[in-house]
Amino acid sequence: MKDNPLILELRAMREKARQGGGTDRIAAQHAKGKLTARERLDYLLDPGTFNELEPFLTGHSDESLGVSTEEYLGEGVITGYGQIDGRTVYVYAQDFTVHGGTLSEMQSHKICRVMDFAVRNGYPIIGIIDSGGARIQEGVKSLGGYAEIFRRNALYSGVIPQISVMLGPCAGGASYSPALTDLIIMVEKKSYMFLTGPEVLKAATGEVVDAEQLGGADTHMAISGIAHLSAPDERSTLALARRSLSFLPSNNVENPPYRAPNDDPARMDEELNHIVPFDPTMPYSMHHILERVVDKNSFLEIQPAWGRNAITGFARIGGHSVGIVAQEPDVMAGVIDLDASDKMSRFVRFCDCFNVPLVTFVDTPGYLPGIDQEHRGIIRHGAKLLYAYSEATVPKITVITRKAYGGAYVVMSSKFLGTDVTYAWPSAEIAVMGADAAVNILFKKQIAGAPDASSERKRLVEEYRRKFNNPYYSAKAGYVDDIIEPRETRPKIIASLAALRDKYSPALPRKHGNIPV
Ligand code: HXC
Repeated sequence: MKDNPLILELRAMREKARQGGGTDRIAAQHAKGKLTARERLDYLLDPGTFNELEPFLTGHSDESLGVSTEEYLGEGVITGYGQIDGRTVYVYAQDFTVHGGTLSEMQSHKICRVMDFAVRNGYPIIGIIDSGGARIQEGVKSLGGYAEIFRRNALYSGVIPQISVMLGPCAGGASYSPALTDLIIMVEKKSYMFLTGPEVLKAATGEVVDAEQLGGADTHMAISGIAHLSAPDERSTLALARRSLSFLPSNNVENPPYRAPNDDPARMDEELNHIVPFDPTMPYSMHHILERVVDKNSFLEIQPAWGRNAITGFARIGGHSVGIVAQEPDVMAGVIDLDASDKMSRFVRFCDCFNVPLVTFVDTPGYLPGIDQEHRGIIRHGAKLLYAYSEATVPKITVITRKAYGGAYVVMSSKFLGTDVTYAWPSAEIAVMGADAAVNILFKKQIAGAPDASSERKRLVEEYRRKFNNPYYSAKAGYVDDIIEPRETRPKIIASLAALRDKYSPALPRKHGNIPV
């Protein structure tokens, strides 16, 4: 049978669309060690599930600038839907081979269309970003295009999960849109996020810096705190996006997916009874506790290299998704500073908007004192955490492993912020402040007047410790629901979560709150 010329034409057009900016630019992309947008989608999605939308859409070029007006089908972005672990997601992947993946008015149109589809149907949206930002030759049309995306990022926040995977140089608007999403995942050494690149910076301020130092994955993972996760290559970066989604529901009216646990829900770990040192000044790692409590190998730490005195991450306990918030006593004694406050409060709100129960592990001597912290606004930043825990309506469980002093006791998901169940380990110390500091203030005159000031001080510290630095005083007062052996923590949390699964906690009607940002 003779070939139908219309079908042949369609095939040729499809092939042209598949080639984006052409074979030379695809080769250049590969030469930089980067995948093409289509190859990335193949790794992100379950095999054979991708369906493309608007592959033939093209933009309008402005010849007056003398820039190439060659027509590129698809307009530098591939959009559509597919599946991850059998669940539908909407996606867009910028194609660097077309004008450096830059955003034109019509590219924005395509991206907004999948964002609208995603929210209407209640599915997550994942953006693969590889773009020089606003397409210069489109002028204000491009800026308007970004504004359309930003507005949707904001309005759809808390309705569907939004994940940004950064796989190239992401300048200007290409960084702002991800900053409005729930998770930013960067590939190391090949992705950059900055408002202005090194060359513009040098011209504007004289500062000399390379792209990696200015906005590479290490910078945003450890210094700015803008990125949440990173991986050494594109495949593992895309795998992180798949894994993150496994902890989240498709939208804010669903619960997170359940995965049959690979770990005994009744498992008790004797080692837990010996992790917290007797000496309250000795550090230990909260990570060791978390690993022993959650389902084996299920912990996905979010922002592991930034604000390391706090720990945030998703895990499964008994197959159910939970958000873990904790202190790391091994880093700055687990004190709460500006970055720790921001890190924890953002994560608490992330979990709350997507119905992920919160499990908080507390060991903190308090907020970090000091002129620098005060002047940079520790009151405002610390208040974010109070706000986040107070407004969170998901099941909330707290485990106090050691220190819970002062404001830090209150802020770390205390009973009075609406926490459902609070457990304390026998090593818990719940007090206004540590014994030494308290005795110095309360008994200053008595110590000064004693014949042997040092032994009097020691005696008073011991007495204070006996009275306050234990969980029984708090349990008797009803501030703690139960004192448990550390080894019992996993089954206790699993039982509590089961009892709280259908928690009904409607919020007061309001437009929205006014969190101290
Ligand atoms: C139009 C652009 C472009 C841009 C790159 N290209 N950036 N075209 N508008 N903003 C084109 C190049 O001309 C080139 O086209 C192709 O993309 C690849 O670019 P190269 O420079 O060859 O690639 P590379 O060396 O890898 O460098 C990539 C880059 C650099 C780091 C992104 O191109 C760069 O610094 N671009 C400018 C970034 C920028 O300042 N953007 C504006 C941000 S302002 P050919 O035809 O050769 O393939 C913004 C405002 C948003 O976004 C407002 C939000 C509030």
